[in-house]
Amino acid sequence: MAGSGVFEDIIEGEVFKFYTDGEWKKSASGKSVAIINPTTRTTQYKVQEHKAPIAECLVKEIAKPAKDSVTEVVRSGDLISYCAEEGVRILGEGKFLVSDSFPGNERTKYCLTSKIPLGVVLAIPPFNYPVNLAVSKIGPALIAGNSLVLKPPTQGAVACLHMVHCFHLAGFPKGLISCVTGKGSEIGDFLTMHPGVNCISFTGGDTGIAISKKAGMVPLQMELGGKDACIVLEDADLDLAAANIIKGGFSYSGQRCTAVKVVLVMESVADTLVEKVNAKLAKLKVGPPEEDCDITPVVSESSANFIEGLAKDAKTKGATFCQEYKREGNLIWPVLLDHVRPDMRIAWEEPFGPIIPVIRINSIEEGIHHCNASNFGLQGCVFTKDINKAILISDAMETGTVQINSAPARGPDHFPFQGLKDSGIGSQGITNSINMMTKVKTTVINLP
Ligand code: G3P
Repeated sequence: MAGSGVFEDIIEGEVFKFYTDGEWKKSASGKSVAIINPTTRTTQYKVQEHKAPIAECLVKEIAKPAKDSVTEVVRSGDLISYCAEEGVRILGEGKFLVSDSFPGNERTKYCLTSKIPLGVVLAIPPFNYPVNLAVSKIGPALIAGNSLVLKPPTQGAVACLHMVHCFHLAGFPKGLISCVTGKGSEIGDFLTMHPGVNCISFTGGDTGIAISKKAGMVPLQMELGGKDACIVLEDADLDLAAANIIKGGFSYSGQRCTAVKVVLVMESVADTLVEKVNAKLAKLKVGPPEEDCDITPVVSESSANFIEGLAKDAKTKGATFCQEYKREGNLIWPVLLDHVRPDMRIAWEEPFGPIIPVIRINSIEEGIHHCNASNFGLQGCVFTKDINKAILISDAMETGTVQINSAPARGPDHFPFQGLKDSGIGSQGITNSINMMTKVKTTVINLP
C-alpha cells in the first residue's frame, strides 16, 4: 500500500514495507507526543536491559573496546529517554497570530501554528557509533511523530538490529521503524533517492556530499567528518593538554569524527608537550577489544592501508616519528608525528586511525590560518589559561564548535553538534534534531 508517508518496494525480489499501518499509521500525520512518550521511555529500559549482548556485537563487529561498547549502549538509552522528555517540552507549543499586528491589516485573520512530523525519516549512521548515532536519529524522529527507515552500517548492522528489536519490545509496532541492511553501494541510491523519503539524517564520510547532490527536496542533516585542530598556547596547562590529546586523539583508535586530528603547538612549548604526550602514549595498551585495550584493530584493511599511506608520505617528506611505525593486519600501534609540515598529506587529510600529526607554530594567527584552510570545519580546541584569548580564537576558528581546555567531543548528547564547510549540513543534538524532523503547519481562520 502506498500513500502519504507510506511506501513499499521490492528490492531483489523481496518486498519491503517502509511504514506501518493500523493505529500507528496516524503517527506520521501527527500522533500525539503524549502517546509516543511512554513507549519511548520504555525503550530506554529495554536498550539498557540488553546492554551486554548489544555491546558484545559492537566488540565483535567494529572492534570497539569492551568498556566503551557498554558506554555507547548506556549513553544511547539515556539519549532515548531525553528525547522523550524534550519532545514533551517542545512539541506541545504552538503559536497564535492575529492579522492586525502587521501594517495595513484589519483583525480579520487568526493564524494557528503547530509543528507536525515530516513523514518518513531515513537514518544512516556510521560504523564507529552504530548504536548511538542510530539512536540519535531514531529518538528525535519518533518522538516528533515520524516513521523511520534505518540503514545501518555494514559493520555494526547486527548491533543495530538488536537495538531496533528493543524498540519493538518496548511497544513500537514493527514497520514504524524498518531496518534495511545492505551495502551502501548497492542500496544507498535506492533509499536516498526514494520519493517516499521525507528527510535524510546521515553521518559518515564524503558519501554524504554525493547524497546531498542526489537527494530530492527534503531536509538534510549531515555530519561528514573533520580535521579537528588542537591549538596549544605558551601559557597552557601542558599536562591537561597532553591528557586531552591522548584521549581526544586515540580513543577508539582515532576512529571518531571529533578526534584530535592535528596538534598546532607554539614552538616555545612544543618540546615539553611532545615529551608529555609521548610519555602517556607509551602507556596505551594495544591489542584485542575483548581485553579492553586502548588501541584495537581499525575497521578494515582498506582503512589500515590508507592510514599507512599517510604515514609513509609523512616519512618520505621528513616528519619525525616519535615511535616506530608498527602494523599487524589491521592493528596499528599509536604514533605521534612531530615536525609535520603543510606539504604533507597528514597535515590535511583525516586518517581515522591512531596517528596524530604535530605542527609547530610561531603565532596564534598561523594556527588559526591552518585550521581555517581546511575543507573541514567540525570542531576544534584551544588550550590556554587566558580566557580572553580563548574566546577570540573560538570566534576566529571556522568550526561548528570550539572546546576551551578540553578535547573535541559531540556529547553530552543534548548539546548542539554541527559542522561547517565539508563537515556537514544543519545542526544535531536532541532539540535541534527534533525541530529539524518537523515542519510548521498553519491554519488561518478568516473572519467574515
Ligand atoms: O564520529 C562521530 C562523532 O559524532 C563523534 O562523537 O561522541 O566521539 O565525540 P563523539
